[in-house]
Amino acid sequence: MKTVLTTLGISLLVLAGCAGQKQAESNFIQENIDNAVAQETIQTDIIEKSGKILNPRTIDKDGNIVYVPIDDWCSGFFPGNIWHMYELTGDQKWLPLAEKYTEDLDSVQYLTWHHDVGFMIGSSYLNGYRFAGKEEYKPVIIQTAKSLSTRFRPAAGVLQSWDADKGWQAERGWKCPVIIDNMMNLDLLFYVSHLTGDDKYKRLALKHADTTMQNHFRSDYSSWHVVSYNDDGTVGVKCTHQGKNDDSSWARGQAWGVYGYTSCFRESKDVRYLKQAEGIADMIMNRVKTKDLIPLWDYDAPVTAETPRDASAAAITASALIELSTLTTDGQKYFDYAENLLKNLSSSSYLAKPGENQGFILMHSTGSLPNGSEIDTPINYADYYYLEALKRYMDVKGLTYNSL
Ligand code: GLY
Repeated sequence: MKTVLTTLGISLLVLAGCAGQKQAESNFIQENIDNAVAQETIQTDIIEKSGKILNPRTIDKDGNIVYVPIDDWCSGFFPGNIWHMYELTGDQKWLPLAEKYTEDLDSVQYLTWHHDVGFMIGSSYLNGYRFAGKEEYKPVIIQTAKSLSTRFRPAAGVLQSWDADKGWQAERGWKCPVIIDNMMNLDLLFYVSHLTGDDKYKRLALKHADTTMQNHFRSDYSSWHVVSYNDDGTVGVKCTHQGKNDDSSWARGQAWGVYGYTSCFRESKDVRYLKQAEGIADMIMNRVKTKDLIPLWDYDAPVTAETPRDASAAAITASALIELSTLTTDGQKYFDYAENLLKNLSSSSYLAKPGENQGFILMHSTGSLPNGSEIDTPINYADYYYLEALKRYMDVKGLTYNSL
């Protein structure tokens, strides 16, 4: 009898513990989405009151919001954040706002002079299609894939990132520069193969991923930022634009890599991509030098209290690792790491208080330190991947948000 009662007691304690943990997870989601609602409301209100259509990217040294034109690589993230709010909360108030700031990007579908259209249209139109069933966005998404495909260079087997015939890129002497960030444009191509039933977009994406796997990565799974190819497809130079030095491991670049190869495995089920994603994830987890896991802006940057961190790299990594955790048998360690990242990003060290930070959700990202740009500041893509990571976390945990 005593044994039965003891067993019953232990079972009740375990059940109470599980219920407590579930409640804590639920509170975590509730609080952080409430906070995001407050911040996004402030940000959209400022713009709506101006009577203009504006696209906030960051804040400058004087604390003013920096707005960008629609051909900026970050122009999709503001509408993307509104789509995330719509998806996370189910609140219809976000729908007309998301539509309005998405549709302002209409002409981006024809942009062929850089590779970032996957980010721009993927965050805006594609999320409208995915989250709100906006069928009328389909032609824009398909046209964007066509535009991006014009940048495929068969000799090298890559999508060229930047044009190199003018501007600062020309001064570097590059022929066909490809940056690791380009792995993020592949998801749009994958989606368009699904939408059209034409697998040529997927084939281009996977060819790019294969070439990048071969040339961008070192034996420890860290990556160079830039690889420039010669006309005959051979590698010209491996270097950096945003990292500490050519052979360093720029933090956001490592995040783009693990995110991109996780997508490639999701779409192809080719285990080479899973191995690549896991290799990058393990490298990140081994090389992070901060107690709270939010990386310094470059994994080779000096470890000092003053060295800027990059919350955006943490948010992208968190989102990628949650997806990766669902695709591999060894997923718990990735999920646990991502959960720690999300919790630490959601602490007062990184999460702005409602009403502060000009409506941006996260503080302490670093855009391009070597170029003196956006150092230790909020940036819209940090918020974007943080919101995406929250949603992925909710999906894995089976949590919902209750808007009151
Ligand atoms: N794709 C540009 C950056 O990550 O800064």
